Amino acid sequence: MHDHDNEVSNPSKNRPFRDVLEVSLSRRKMLMGSLATAATAYVATSSVALAGNKGWKYGKGGKSKELIGFKPVTIAEANDVGGKVPLISPDYQYQTLISWGEKVNPRSPVQPYNGEPERRPKADEQAELIGIGHDGMTLFPVGKRNRAGMLCINHEFGRNSHVLGKPFPESLEDVRVSQHAHGVSVVALAKIRGRWRQVWSRNARRIHVNTPVEFSGPAAGHPLLQTPAGNPTLGTVNNCSNGETPWGTYLTCEENFNGYFGASDPNWAPTDEQARYGFTNVGFGYGWHVYDERFDLSDPNYKNEDNRFGWVVEIDPRNGRRIPVKRTALGRFKHEGAEVVVGKGGRLVVYMGDDQSFDYIYKFVSDGNWKSMRARGMNPLDHGKLYVAKFKDDGTGDWLELTIDNPVLAARFKDQAEVLVYTRLAADLLGATPMDRPEWASVAPNGDVYCTLTNNRDRTEADAANPLAPNPDGHIIRWRDDHRHVGTRFVWDIYLIAQDTHGEGDERNFSDPDGIWVDPDGRVFIQTDGGQKAGLQNQMVVADPDGIDIRRLFVGVSGDEITGIAYTPDRRTMFINTQHPGNGDPTRTNFPAAPDGVTIPRDTTFVITRKDGGMIGS
Ligand code: FEO
Ligand code: CA
Ligand code: CA
Ligand code: CA
Repeated sequence: MHDHDNEVSNPSKNRPFRDVLEVSLSRRKMLMGSLATAATAYVATSSVALAGNKGWKYGKGGKSKELIGFKPVTIAEANDVGGKVPLISPDYQYQTLISWGEKVNPRSPVQPYNGEPERRPKADEQAELIGIGHDGMTLFPVGKRNRAGMLCINHEFGRNSHVLGKPFPESLEDVRVSQHAHGVSVVALAKIRGRWRQVWSRNARRIHVNTPVEFSGPAAGHPLLQTPAGNPTLGTVNNCSNGETPWGTYLTCEENFNGYFGASDPNWAPTDEQARYGFTNVGFGYGWHVYDERFDLSDPNYKNEDNRFGWVVEIDPRNGRRIPVKRTALGRFKHEGAEVVVGKGGRLVVYMGDDQSFDYIYKFVSDGNWKSMRARGMNPLDHGKLYVAKFKDDGTGDWLELTIDNPVLAARFKDQAEVLVYTRLAADLLGATPMDRPEWASVAPNGDVYCTLTNNRDRTEADAANPLAPNPDGHIIRWRDDHRHVGTRFVWDIYLIAQDTHGEGDERNFSDPDGIWVDPDGRVFIQTDGGQKAGLQNQMVVADPDGIDIRRLFVGVSGDEITGIAYTPDRRTMFINTQHPGNGDPTRTNFPAAPDGVTIPRDTTFVITRKDGGMIGS
């Protein structure tokens, strides 16, 4: 399931780094060249002023020290603590904030869970406690903007061994514990006497697999989203990365939803559509379908329940009574994240990765100016066009519209709702470019969109956009769309090839990029999830826009991944997560408890600040 194979040490990773370095650097040079050519061509052919690579506050050479000035954690220092505790740059400090099992609302009478192996949360308790699998996050400021806010935290997943302390559920109660540990937490935070802490709010809440949800957009109410039993629309699962809208709502993205379904009937077999989304008899081994028929793919009453997952879900962090809404116009796939930017004409643009080997990169563009749409009572996320990316070898690319008006799609699907429910199959038909597991995207201040491609061990044939076969360590691609994000053509280059660009032993060493954020000054924050080299645990590094100066800001603990990026508006406080520390095994780490204890390690949010109060990343 998923990419938690931190233990994998693929011998092919030891291929000659110099070779790869040469190839990637010369390819990059070539692509940057064609980017410039293509940009010029755009001006000539479509009179689109596609800006060149200008606009960085960052300049080549001496200025990099101003952009990133901190002393990095060295490989030797990171290895010295053996993955038992996290490490941060000596110029920074961290505070642990919110762990799995703590109260969502401090005044709640529920008993928190502190990691004791012998006493785990019951289902009704877990529904009021922070979930597990901390992932994407956004801080929505309130009041004193840099000192208080509502923090939304995704709870992507928790293995049964971690959550239940056993490999398989033995009752519906066990399944409910697991279901309640998934979803989203909305918590209220305030900085009190120099420390961030949770405070009471009527809007703090848990949203989990059994929380009522609504559907909106073109596929809402469609027969493919109805079950014969007429059961209500409930829940969100495998909430991976995230986004936020300009009107102050949170977007949580459903990624590996297929893994929670299974079939009790041994004769059940997936339809073509189900197979394309990876549904199998056993899923990822959660066993929910054994005790909860809703997740049983062979239960006729619950036909189509599987179609109700795989969406981007909008949550109001400032109104705890507002029902989460699944926005179907953004398509159904293994949504990693939803990077929102306001494009030309005030149109809302959402960049999204589908994290699977050989799956695609998508974007959504609203039909009109987001403010005027909202003034007319429309949600911009319900009305717009969905596109999938085709990267061409010459450094240009096209956004292909997923519309029933295209005869190729009309021959296969009945209506636009079907195109959206089966987005992956529609994208296949249009000839989108299969990528090396697209994870997060982030829009830089100069308009470049960066997207992490975490790895693809199954690739046997390289192409320009995915230049390594196999690709064990991942890379980061970036592109720039014409018409300020709303156009259908783009130019692209490879920002960097993880790991291999700088060689083994180089202090800039990292692999398997996953979380990414380009801050308004152009600093590129990169978080990793996978097999780091040189004995390193997963980490967060900060890089310059040329991918040359790369510094290690934070290193996690054994078995974890580092994920989630939220920050105060002044960018002097950052929130990040350790996900699945120790992979749930207390012999690897007891984090956040003391290193020598026996408690179950718990997913935890950190607060990161610079010791001198400076900008994060500087
Ligand atoms: Fe949820 Fe692809 O990471
Ligand atoms: Ca993950
Ligand atoms: Ca991820
Ligand atoms: Ca990942």
